[in-house]
Amino acid sequence: SLKQFYSKELLHWYRAQKRSLPWRENKDPYRIWVSEIMLQQTKVDTVIPYFQRFMERFPTVQQLAVAEEEEVLKCWEGLGYYSRARNLHTGAKMVVEHFGGVVPNDKTEVASLKGVGPYTTGAIMSIAFNEPVPAVDGNVMRVLSRFFLLQDDIAKQKTRVSIEHLAVSLIPEGEAGDFNQALMELGALVCTPKAPVCLTCPVMEHCAARLNGMELQLPIKTKA
Ligand code: ADE
Repeated sequence: SLKQFYSKELLHWYRAQKRSLPWRENKDPYRIWVSEIMLQQTKVDTVIPYFQRFMERFPTVQQLAVAEEEEVLKCWEGLGYYSRARNLHTGAKMVVEHFGGVVPNDKTEVASLKGVGPYTTGAIMSIAFNEPVPAVDGNVMRVLSRFFLLQDDIAKQKTRVSIEHLAVSLIPEGEAGDFNQALMELGALVCTPKAPVCLTCPVMEHCAARLNGMELQLPIKTKA
């Protein structure tokens, strides 16, 4: 089927092409969590040095939890969106207080952490624990809207929910972490918003947007 083709080709491409990034060195859920919070509103190249400095200063969730807020903010200085740092600090304290200092591997518990929304929950559950939870952000909505020619408004909550259902159905058995990262990687490197590099895309030949000449019209988004 088209879904099986998509999943298989994408995973194969990711394994051959993935960038080596500092948060891909291991699957420590705390590291994955920190990286996903930093990557929410900031580009990979900018995040790398901040991530390394942050992990050197706060190598474990316990060390982050006991730090002074001022020091956490100082380490975040220049990255912007400082509520991310404050929420991450609060989340680390919640892990120590409610989960014995261990980042939980339960979806509901992960989602209960301050600053952790549906996307970050999916990223942590899939990348750190290989659990089949979707991690759908704007990039993933764009990539899937194009391949499957989804013409619903991605600004609507119900569209996001239906794309999350599609995304779960695509996850190959036992490959959640790599598959979700493959979707993110495709959106970052190939299926970009304004100038997608279709000729290097592993699924170009069956991309419905491309077959219809609609790659630049998708995804459809009404409000900013
Ligand atoms: N953007 C969001 N999450 C990412 C990840 N894990 N790797 C690369 N880019 C990302």
